[in-house]
Amino acid sequence: MDYNPLAPEVQENPYPYYAALRQHHPVAWIEPLNCWTISRYQDVDNAIKSPQVFSSANWIGESLGALNPAPEVPWMIETDPPDHTRLRKLVGKAFTPRMVSLLEQRIRAVARQLLEPVREREFDFMHDFARVLPVIAIAEMLGVESEHHAEFERWSDNIVRGTSRPGGEAERAEIQQSNNEMRAYFHQAIAQRRKEPRNDLLTALVQAEEERQALTADEVLAMAMLILLAGNETTRNLLGNTALMLLAQPAVLAKVRSDRALVPKLIEEVLRYDSPVQIVFRRTTKSIEVSGTSIPAKSTVFVLLGSANRDERQFPDPDRFDLERDNSDHRAFGFATHFCLGAQLARLEAKVALEELLFSCPTFVRGSRPIQRVRSLLLRGLDYLPVRFAA
Ligand code: HEM
Repeated sequence: MDYNPLAPEVQENPYPYYAALRQHHPVAWIEPLNCWTISRYQDVDNAIKSPQVFSSANWIGESLGALNPAPEVPWMIETDPPDHTRLRKLVGKAFTPRMVSLLEQRIRAVARQLLEPVREREFDFMHDFARVLPVIAIAEMLGVESEHHAEFERWSDNIVRGTSRPGGEAERAEIQQSNNEMRAYFHQAIAQRRKEPRNDLLTALVQAEEERQALTADEVLAMAMLILLAGNETTRNLLGNTALMLLAQPAVLAKVRSDRALVPKLIEEVLRYDSPVQIVFRRTTKSIEVSGTSIPAKSTVFVLLGSANRDERQFPDPDRFDLERDNSDHRAFGFATHFCLGAQLARLEAKVALEELLFSCPTFVRGSRPIQRVRSLLLRGLDYLPVRFAA
C-alpha cells in the first residue's frame, strides 16, 4: 500500500495506510515528498522528545515562503533549545492558566450567540459555529477590540489558508493583503501597549521578562501570529471532528447527552481517535537508526502523530472509539519541548462549546448535503458539515 499524504484517498481516511506503515514499514521513505515517515507510537514519542536529533528549525519559514506574515524572526515552533527555551519561558509568563480560565464565560456567551439563530434550520457546523469560536477566543485573549473582530476573522481565515492550501494568483494576493493589514494592526497595537498597558495577552507579551531578557517587538509580533495560527484551525477541527464522530455513533451521542461529566473524556478520545494535527515536521541533525532503519542526516521527517495515536502497541483495539479507555498518553498535542502551548485553551473551548451544543439544544442530526473534508497535508478536519437540531 503506497502512502502519500497528498493523495485524496489518504486524506479521506489515512488510518488503514498508517496501520500498514506501522506493521510493514515503521520507518518509510516517501519518494514523491522526499521525506521519511515515522509511524509507531514509541518512535514518534522518541522523535518529539529528542530535539537535538530531530530538529524543528525553520520549517515554518520554509513552508510559508513569501506568505510568511512575520518573517523577521523564527517562530517559536520552528526553533530548537536553547533559543526555544528562552522564548517558551517568556511566553509562559504571559500565556498563563489564569488568563485562559478567565475566558470561559466569554466563550460560553459566544457559543450561545452562535447557536441561537440556527436552532430552527439546517446549518454548516464548521462555518457557522466551529470556525468562529477559536478566532474570537484568541482575539479576546490578545486584547483585540470587538469592533475589529470581523476583520480579525477575515485576516486569520486568509492567513491560515496560506499555511495549508494557497490557491492561484488572486488567492495569494488576498492572503498577502491580509498579512499586511494584520501586521499593521499588530505593529500599532504593540507600540500602543508599551505606552498604555492593558489587561491582555499582548500587554503581557510586551512586558514578559525573564532574567532581564524580554521579547523584541518582532518577537512579540511573531508570537501573536503563531498563537493565532496554531490555535485556530486546530481547535476548529477538534470541534468538527467531535461533531462528526457523534453523528456517526449515535449511541455515544446519547450516552454523553445523559452525563455531562463525560464531556472531557469525549474530547480526549476524539483527540486520540481523529487527531486535528496528524503530522509534525522535523529535520535530522545526524544519521539515526529508528526501528532498524537508518535515516540519514539532514533528512526531512514526517512524524505521524495521527498514526501514533492509533498504534495497537499503545492503545488496545485502537480503531474503536472508547469513552472509557485510558488515553492520557495520546500525542495529539505533541509532547515535551514543543508540547502545545494552547492545550488548556483548546480543551476549555471544546468543553464549553460541546456543553452548549449538547445540553442547551435538542439532539442534532446530519443535514442533507454531503460533508467536505479539508484538503491539507498536516491537518485533519472538515470544511463543510451540515447539521440540524431534531424537532
Ligand atoms: C485542538 C487544538 C490543538 C491541537 C490539536 C494542537 C496541536 C499542537 C501540536 C501537535 C503541537 C506540537 C508541534 C510540534 O511538536 O512541532 C502544538 C504546538 C503549539 N500549539 Fe497547539 N494545538 C491546538 C490548539 C492550540 C491553541 C488553542 C493554541 C494557542 C492559543 C496553540 C498554540 C500552540 C503553540 C504556540 C505551539 C508551539 C509550542 C512550542 O513550540 O513550544 N495550539 N500544538
